[in-house]
Amino acid sequence: MAKENLYLCMGSACHQLGVYEVLPKLQSLMSEYDLNDRIELKGSFCLESCSCGIVMKFQDDLFINISPQNVEDKFITEILPAIQKDRVDSLATS
Ligand code: FES
Repeated sequence: MAKENLYLCMGSACHQLGVYEVLPKLQSLMSEYDLNDRIELKGSFCLESCSCGIVMKFQDDLFINISPQNVEDKFITEILPAIQKDRVDSLATS
């Protein structure tokens, strides 16, 4: 099965807000939740929501206001449910 991309904005606004501190935390969360065989974490150009904190995107969902301090919380409450929903949907249609 092809991996889905999870994008982390590496644009200049997100960079200034500490995206390079967020990245290693995301990488360890991905391992912790055993997502590495399904999800590819990728850097992206500006996701055009520069005034909304650090931004991530999974499929059509945009996750905003991420910071090095809250990334774990955001991952568990917003991003992980979106990823798991995608899995349920793909199991239902296969
Ligand atoms: S730089 Fe990240 S949304 Fe624009």
